[in-house]
This record gives sequence, C-alpha cells and structure tokens, in this order.
Amino acid sequence: MKESSSSSLQLLFTLFIFSLTIFTKPVSSSTPWPHHVKQISGNGKDLDFGSSKKYEGSSEFVHLKYHMGPVLTSTITVHPIWYGTWKNSQKKIIREFINSISSDDSKHPSVYGWWRTVQLYTDQTGANISRTVHVGEEKNDRFYSHGRSLTRLSIQSVIKSAVSVRTKPLPINPKSGLYLLLTADDVHVEDFCGQVCGFHYFTFPSIVGYTLPYAWVGNSEKLCAGTCAYPFAVPDYIPNLKPLKSPNGDIGIDGMISVIAHEIAELATNPLVNAWYAGPDPSFPTEIADLCEGIYGTGGGGSYTGQMLKGHDGATFNMNGIRRRFLVQWVWNPYLKYCSGPNALDQ
Ligand SMILES: *[C@@H]1O[C@H](CO)[C@@H](O)[C@H](O)[C@H]1NC(C)=O
Repeated sequence: MKESSSSSLQLLFTLFIFSLTIFTKPVSSSTPWPHHVKQISGNGKDLDFGSSKKYEGSSEFVHLKYHMGPVLTSTITVHPIWYGTWKNSQKKIIREFINSISSDDSKHPSVYGWWRTVQLYTDQTGANISRTVHVGEEKNDRFYSHGRSLTRLSIQSVIKSAVSVRTKPLPINPKSGLYLLLTADDVHVEDFCGQVCGFHYFTFPSIVGYTLPYAWVGNSEKLCAGTCAYPFAVPDYIPNLKPLKSPNGDIGIDGMISVIAHEIAELATNPLVNAWYAGPDPSFPTEIADLCEGIYGTGGGGSYTGQMLKGHDGATFNMNGIRRRFLVQWVWNPYLKYCSGPNALDQ
C-alpha cells in the first residue's frame, strides 16, 4: 500500500530552480510547488532541507507563537461561494471533504485524525479549536458577477454580494462562520499560480460591512495544474516527471482539496491574523499549514512529498473521509514541534 514516489529527480530540479528563484509569499497564503523555497527566517540554515532533518519540517528556527487573538472554538460552519461554472460532481467532492473533518467513523488514517492536530491549538482561556466543522448555506455566483479576473479587493466585493443579495443571502456569522470563495477553472485571481494557490484573510467592514474570516481557493486545472495541483499534475519545466493518479478523478478538484484544508486549518487557528503564527512580521505570518506545505507523509520536506498511500485503483492519497480518499498536506504539531498527520509512521 505504501508508496514512495521517486524523489531524486524532483530534488535535483528543485535545487536547480531553487538557486535561481526566491518566491515571496503574500499574507496568509498557500504557495505553489515547489514548496519551501522560502523558509521562516533569513537564516541560511533554514534553506538546508533534506537529510539532516530528523522530523518532517522540524526546525529549531520555528517559533510558532500565540498572539492573544481569537481562534474558532465553537462549531465551525463553512459557507462555500461557487464562483463561475461548477459541476455538481465537483461540488460534491469538496463538500464531502469538509464534512469529513468531523467524521470520526472514517477509516484510519482519516481526515478526522488530521484535524485532531488542529484541535490542539487553544485561545487565552484554554479553549480548543472546535472539533466540529461542517458545510453550511452556500451561494452560487454562476454568472461571474465581478468578471473573470478578480483582485484581492474585488474578492471582498464578491463576498459582500453573497451576504447581502436579496434572495437567500449567506448568514452573517463572524464568530464561527468561514466564507470560502471557490473560483472555477476559467477565473484568474491576483497572484494565482505565480505566487499563491489560495489565501485567507478577513473582510473589511468598509467594504463588506462586517469582519468575516474568508479564504479563496482557485481551480488551477487549466491555468497552472503543475504548480497548484501537484503531484496530480507536474510543472512543464520538469521533463520526465510523471503525475500521480488523483483519488477522485478530477485533478483540479483533488488539487484544491489540500489547499482548502490548508486554509481552513489556518482560518481556525488564526482567523483575524492575530492568533497562531510564527515570524517577526504580522503582515507576512507563517502559519500552522505554511510550515508543512508540500508534506503529505513521513520523510516529506523540500521537494519530497513523503510517504503516501496507493489504492487498488492506483490513485495516491494519504487519508480517508466520507466515501472518499483525499491527499491533504500535514500541519504543524505544537507539542512535537514538527509536521504531523494521521498517516505518520510514528502515530
Ligand atoms: C486541547 O488542547 C490542549 C492543549 O493543547 C491539549 O492538551 C488537548 O489534548 C486538546 N484537546 C483536544 C480535544 O484536542
């Protein structure tokens, strides 16, 4: 069942690209593959990924800190906003992933087991991140109300429309609602592909009328699957690297799942960007999923995904959910002080 995808070629190319390019990461985002091109501090040692590390993502330079702001401790309701043209089959995969987070009867290793690491984070009162995450009211924005090219600011206008339309507006829930803007594969978003695959922030009262934690994640299938749906697609600049088969038969959606997971984990632990993050600069926080980007299993780090699982159908995944399998990046464990997930060999 275990699969180790060939890493040496990946590593070689990453080292090469790595020497040419340093990406900069905008606020609270999930960055494109290859990951870990920029690490926590400017210290050169951070860049020394690979063999010397004992645990996935572990680093003596990581100082994840609690900055006293709120975290999401009561039942989390995710409100998807489907922007552009979406197939029902695609929506179903994403809904089932989100509902899998609290499904404790999924087979081990499970999405529920993955969320247990997120639950370890607490607020000032000692209250944990909520155990329960579910899909709430949804909104369709079928006709691209703000065009096919969105900016960080126009994203907030899309959310404003969704919470203020006359018929069935999304409920206003600043305490435990998460607004998840999902853009179809023909929508361009500022910084998409080059710098980010998704990001989270909160809306401004001046635009939306409320401070609501939100995330955007785009379907990269047509625009840049090799960077945002890796390893189910591979970048053009790496010849001979074979994409892995995705677990739900839709490369764009299967690639989005890990980015959605990344953003929900960070929204729960850092919804107003003043709770759990590392790094000296609050406008470039390094959050619990940023620390583990691109790590899906034991041995992961640098350009290597780590050990994943392979189903009878040949598809690669690392956790089970409701009726389905998913490939989801790990998150930072605050006790172990390294990245961990339900399929870890030391679990
Ligand atoms: C809540 O957080 C505390 C402190 O991190 C941890 O020890 C405990 O296991 C957590 N509880 C749950 C249910 O995750």
